[in-house]
Amino acid sequence: MAIERLSHIGIAVRDLDAQVRFYRDTLGLALEAIEEVPDQQVRVASFRLGEASLELLTPLGPESPIARFLEKRGEGLHHLAYAVADLPAELAALAGKGVDLIDKSPRPGAAGQRIAFLHPRSTFGVLSELCEGGEHHGGR
Ligand code: CO
Repeated sequence: MAIERLSHIGIAVRDLDAQVRFYRDTLGLALEAIEEVPDQQVRVASFRLGEASLELLTPLGPESPIARFLEKRGEGLHHLAYAVADLPAELAALAGKGVDLIDKSPRPGAAGQRIAFLHPRSTFGVLSELCEGGEHHGGR
């Protein structure tokens, strides 16, 4: 397994504008981008945190996984994402070790990343994502 570093922390939010104001104006973090990721049906606000970033995720519709999360668990910490160099190879390696994968192959994520989620039942309750590449996360 070749996890290189923490890529980002994902937080599920209902009111993106209010939370952007909190992280940007109250905590003073640098807002890097706000973009939509149609594949996950989310709008994402990214804040730089050194080598890692904080991603605020709000659903674009009721079918979004974030909408279902908010309904069940409310706002708060949603997932941790680890940067890897070769996502398909890492997914194959984890599957070989018996890890339950939500995404068996890479999906498009924010900032040009390729991402895949591991099932929390294989990660002791922490929804975990692997991600590869991307202009904000992999290229620096
Ligand atoms: Co993520």
